[in-house]
Amino acid sequence: MNKTVLVTGGAGYIGSHACVELSEAGYDVIVVDNLSNSQMEAVRRVEQIIGKPLVFYQADVRDKPALSDIFQQHKIDAVIHFAGLKAVGESCQQPVAYYHNNNVSTLVLVETMAQFKVSHLVFSSSATVYGDPQSVPITEDFPLQATNPYGRTKLFIEDILRDLSQADVLNNAELPWKIALLRYFNPVGAHSSGLIGESPNGIPNNLMPYLSQVAIGKLEKLSVFGDDYATRDGTGVRDYIHVVDLAQGHVKALDYLLAKATDEGLCEAFNLGTGQGNSVLEMIETFQSVTGQMVNYQIVDRRPGDIAECYANTDLAEKKLGWKAQKNLHDMITDTWRWQTKNPNGYEEKL
Ligand code: NAD
Ligand code: WQD
Repeated sequence: MNKTVLVTGGAGYIGSHACVELSEAGYDVIVVDNLSNSQMEAVRRVEQIIGKPLVFYQADVRDKPALSDIFQQHKIDAVIHFAGLKAVGESCQQPVAYYHNNNVSTLVLVETMAQFKVSHLVFSSSATVYGDPQSVPITEDFPLQATNPYGRTKLFIEDILRDLSQADVLNNAELPWKIALLRYFNPVGAHSSGLIGESPNGIPNNLMPYLSQVAIGKLEKLSVFGDDYATRDGTGVRDYIHVVDLAQGHVKALDYLLAKATDEGLCEAFNLGTGQGNSVLEMIETFQSVTGQMVNYQIVDRRPGDIAECYANTDLAEKKLGWKAQKNLHDMITDTWRWQTKNPNGYEEKL
């Protein structure tokens, strides 16, 4: 019989791609999302790709009665927790909203899971928990630090989940937690169908959606934030990872947790990146050569809070989860561009 996985935030950018990969891997998927940063159209498009309906609940994960109802109605085997707010700048302006949404939703979720004896959890963490790393590539045992409220929500949640796992040891728990903390590097790209992708509200904060909106003529010019970093061309270097590879990483993490013996508890962190770093100028050049579109850009001052270089060592995920990113920068850009050209206004365009 298929295992059933509850996907919080499943209407969002990464969650929607994960729903496709989970379904294709034979999991039954239930989505809970409050649609605060997504649209129902994303769920419809996922259904179109997988060729069957998704069980969808519009609810806030902080709403305990609503969440309990879902656990009551379905026999859930595991949870993937994507739901959360994710904009670094906004988190500095509205820290309480971020702590409330991200941290309280996780507390309500783990309380409800414990109540219904569900012990398998995959959590969306972020490379942001490494702060400004002393060196690259980054391994999972690097010191953790947060440099903004968003990052602190992720760090707190990681701590909460590690504490839960530790408590199992102290309590000699019969059904210990099995938790994977997946630290994503820079997710980009879209499903190869062009049906689902990243649909940011307003002006994008992140490089790839900004770049593609300049290329399609929705935005005038890309600002390159600084060319005086100690990197090969002076611009910031990041580990861009295709969202479909990332989604498949969740399937592998779930398989890994579900294969553990009932009485074996764990809380392990894994980097999900490609292990390759690319600079902003390299991204622009590759974007231009892959799409044939010129990208108007100018060099401006550094963006406060940015770091010079960030890329992953992914050996642990390869060794333990049997996962390695398959797609290259060319694929990431081709798929981003297909999504952008087919959906110039994101999910506002109904297919
Ligand atoms: P997203 O905003 O597209 O998706 C998040 C989804 O969660 C949205 O559909 C939103 O409506 C929903 N949501 C938010 N709060 C909720 C709540 N309280 N109850 C129910 N639903 C709620 O973001 P994404 O890019 O898909 O990111 C998913 C997760 O991955 C987030 O936790 C994010 O912090 C993390 N992450 C993202 C990135 C990135 O660059 N995209 C990088 C590292 C980590
Ligand atoms: C990438 C590079 C910028 C925009 C953020 C979060 C991180 C994680 C992923 C959630 C940097 C440069 C960008 C632009 C530019 N999210 N840039 N002009 O900052 O690495 O990571 O998203 O967990 O926590 O901080 O991603 O795409 O914003 O920037 O020059 O208009 O592109 O300076 O070097 P970042 P990004």
